[in-house]
Parts: sequence; structure tokens; C-alpha cells
Amino acid sequence: MMKLLVLNGPNLNLLGIREPNVYGRRTYRDLVNLIHRHARETGVFAAVAQSNYEGDLVTAIQWMYGRYDGLVINPAAYTHTSVALLDAVKGVGIPTVEVHISDVSKREDFRQVSYIRQAAVLTIAGHGFEGYLEAMDYLRENFGEVRR
Ligand code: DQA
Repeated sequence: MMKLLVLNGPNLNLLGIREPNVYGRRTYRDLVNLIHRHARETGVFAAVAQSNYEGDLVTAIQWMYGRYDGLVINPAAYTHTSVALLDAVKGVGIPTVEVHISDVSKREDFRQVSYIRQAAVLTIAGHGFEGYLEAMDYLRENFGEVRR
């Protein structure tokens, strides 16, 4: 079975409370449940994690090496600042899809830069929570192996 890690960066634990006009009213727990249900329905294993700390996210990505087959990452604000996350994804060489709940292309100038993008096989932005499910499907369809 294909093993995916869905990794969320800072403030995404506040989903449901945080700027509902931008991120909606569904909670982080709702997101985790949605991902687990989709994993069950599509026959993949998905672990879901969140951290407010850049170093924790780097460590999680390093830990995936030799253990996981794909990464779905919403680095949140670290998208726009973190060379360390980019280097981690490049370092492990695991197929990675970048996800953003909001359409960052239509937001502030400082959100127009994404460091992780150059290491991602796909970027999905502005599709809400469903973007995570699309990312999982993309990894399964393109990097899942029939023999698994
Ligand atoms: C976000 C967009 C980022 O710019 C922001 O810092 C976030 C969430 C999104 O999912 O739309 O925290 O990654």
C-alpha cells in the first residue's frame, strides 16, 4: 500500500477559528478526518501531522526517507520564507505536492513567492480542503505502484 504523509505548517491547527472568510469554517479535525476517509476509500495509507515549528517540519520530511512514498505539504507561511523546507524535500527526493487552501495567487505580494514550489511535482491552490484530496490522488495515480 502506498504510504503518504500529509504535513501542515503553522496556524493550520487553527482552521475553523482562523480567518474563516479565507479558510472556511471547517476545523483542522475535519480536515484530518476528510484525509483519512479519502485514504481508506482510495486504498492508500495516509499519516497526517501539523507543526508550528519549521525545524519539526524539516525533521518530519527527513524521517520520511525510506519509509514513505509521497508527501502532501501545506507549508503555510513557511511557503514564502523557508529554504530549509525546500532543501529537505530536495534532499529526500520524495514526490511532493504543494497544497494551499486559499488561492495564494490572488492574495498579497509577499505570498507570491513559494520556495517549495521548485521541488514540487504539482501545486494546488484555492481548492479548499479538497485540494489535499486531489494531491493524494495525483500522487497515487502518478507514483503509486501496481504491485503495492
Ligand atoms: C496557506 C496560504 C499561506 O500564504 C498562509 O500563510 C497560510 C495558509 C493556505 O493554505 O492557503 O498559512 O498556505
